[in-house]
Amino acid sequence: MSFSDPHSPAWGPLLGAAWDAWAKAYAPYSGFHVGAALLRADGSIVPGCNVENAAYPVAQCAERTAVCAAVSQGMAVGELLALAVVTEAATLTPPCGACRQVLAEFAEDLPILLANRSERTLTGIRELLPQAFTGRNMAR
Ligand code: THU
Repeated sequence: MSFSDPHSPAWGPLLGAAWDAWAKAYAPYSGFHVGAALLRADGSIVPGCNVENAAYPVAQCAERTAVCAAVSQGMAVGELLALAVVTEAATLTPPCGACRQVLAEFAEDLPILLANRSERTLTGIRELLPQAFTGRNMAR
């Protein structure tokens, strides 16, 4: 499976799952639907959508929904292999800062495909969050 090429067929199932999750987003306040899907080392794909709340700051991003679901299913550190994030925004949607930090907790190298209905681009957690703070920084 090659996730180093944004047009690799390996991204197909992840994109499909991300768009399915996008359709389920609960975003009555922003109207901005986000879908995500991650690939675990066991081959399973875990989707996530954004989940908003009348108390606006409580909103949960799609990426973190997917990570929390995967961890709840047993995903351990190092078992997060790839992530796709989709929206219908004209400008492709990268993970927010909080989500970058959460992703960096579970993967040192993580290819991330950002897509809308007509475009896609490949990025990665190292590019999005260079010099990430991790548990290693807490070693004395
Ligand atoms: N959102 C995500 O789900 N992921 C991102 O990467 C950016 C923002 C959501 C949070 C909120 O529900 C809506 O998009 C607008 O910020």
